[in-house]
Amino acid sequence: MLNELIEHLIDEHQAYNQKMKEFQKALEENFSNELVEEIINFLEKDIEEHAEKEENDLVEAILKRNPDYDEEAIIFGHNTIREAVQDLKDTYEEFKQGKAKKEDIIKYANKAFTIVKDHFLEEENFLFPDIRRMEKEWL
Ligand SMILES: [Fe+2]
Ligand SMILES: [Fe+2]
Repeated sequence: MLNELIEHLIDEHQAYNQKMKEFQKALEENFSNELVEEIINFLEKDIEEHAEKEENDLVEAILKRNPDYDEEAIIFGHNTIREAVQDLKDTYEEFKQGKAKKEDIIKYANKAFTIVKDHFLEEENFLFPDIRRMEKEWL
């Protein structure tokens, strides 16, 4: 069950990495307000739902096996992503008021994507293997 959940989360990482790659290309080639709104929606909906799955379902599954587990490690990275998304949204609002440039939006969107991608890697390389190792010890 815990292992299936982790596999599912990794599948989502791959799908979202692909999507971010497409967004980055589109930002350079076909910049539009609609595209920026689509990116904000992706970050606020798809990425946020993924993060909540980890904060709720994954943490719940871990706590069932180890009530002493410190869930802060999982939540901290997500708050960093949420801050980057907020920066992008603020920049987009400024852009619509003529106070920020297209390049500023591209910069903040790429920054948010980089933080998300690094976070996925960290989970796949450290957090998930740690959980799998702990699960063996808990059995
Ligand atoms: Fe995460
Ligand atoms: Fe994740």
